Amino acid sequence: MLSLERVSKVYRVGTFGGGQVRAVSELSFALAPGEVVALIGESGSGKSTVGRMVLNLLPVSTGSIRFDGIALSDLRQGDRKDYWRRVQGVFQDPFSAYNPIFKADRIFRTLRAEFFPRVETGDWNRRLDGALQAVGLNPQQVRDKFPHQLSGGQLQRLLIARALLLDVQLLVADEIISMLDASTRVDVLNLLADLKARGMAILFITHDLGLANYLSDRVIVLYRGCMVEAGPAEAVFENPQHPYTRMLVAATPRLDCKWPVSDWTPPVGEGEGLGCVYSARCPLCDGQCNRPPVPIETAAGHRVACWRVADPGH
Ligand SMILES: Nc1ncnc2c1ncn2[C@@H]1O[C@H](COP(=O)(O)OP(=O)(O)OP(=O)(O)O)[C@@H](O)[C@H]1O
Ligand SMILES: [Mg+2]
Repeated sequence: MLSLERVSKVYRVGTFGGGQVRAVSELSFALAPGEVVALIGESGSGKSTVGRMVLNLLPVSTGSIRFDGIALSDLRQGDRKDYWRRVQGVFQDPFSAYNPIFKADRIFRTLRAEFFPRVETGDWNRRLDGALQAVGLNPQQVRDKFPHQLSGGQLQRLLIARALLLDVQLLVADEIISMLDASTRVDVLNLLADLKARGMAILFITHDLGLANYLSDRVIVLYRGCMVEAGPAEAVFENPQHPYTRMLVAATPRLDCKWPVSDWTPPVGEGEGLGCVYSARCPLCDGQCNRPPVPIETAAGHRVACWRVADPGH
């Protein structure tokens, strides 16, 4: 359904865009219908950048992203609307998705005008109430309310209900659980599990190992924009191969702690021809790590980008 082929993203920054930040490097992965893939990594590792490129909100610098075989870069204006009917995103801060001066359910009016202009009012109200109930909301309690009258969890659910009305095939969920309190977190997590059971694919972006482990079929560990390890969730968490993943799993024995947050910004060039992106922090680093590692498959579907795993005796 979705496939990324050697996708990189370089942002232009600074006065007149003279500087560059390499946010994602040569990332490849695929997502099948009904599959949940977690993209995990510490702050600044490029997760949201990948999410925004998949949502076609940001162009790739190199490489390609295809949905049902069609490259997103080939979509024209009209096709893009059709794409967003099939692929939607829900983001970390639910409040930012709403205009505080309008009632929260205005998002549904806009949705109807945009995508369902011919559906008559009675039918639309039935569909809307059905979608609200499906995400565990009582339509009477949430309709006609302003964003400040609703909780973060309720606002997240309204956005998920929006995705349900569109009957999307892929949901990009970017840190949607982090801002919620503990009890709401479990509800939204269970809701995502329901969506998966209905056949919706989810790109689940998080820096929380426990959440990734709970929900996903496969995980991709990013370090400074590079995939260092990817594979079935069980394999990666129970048998991590990359020194970085090992360190993280060892440091979070209950798998429910947050990752360390760093304010590191990747300069362009790092990891590019200069060697392994993790070499500066890696306890196993040796002479061969001055070349960028080529991912190898250590078990079915379990890929690791590390020379020392590829050639432990060296
Ligand atoms: N619009 C932008 N312009 C320039 N640099 C950007 C832009 N957006 C992100 N970056 C940089 O790209 C890198 C990756 O950012 P990104 O937001 O994708 O990381 P993230 O993994 O989502 O982090 P977090 O966990 O904090 O949300 C960071 O170094 C960030 O500073
Ligand atoms: Mg982010």
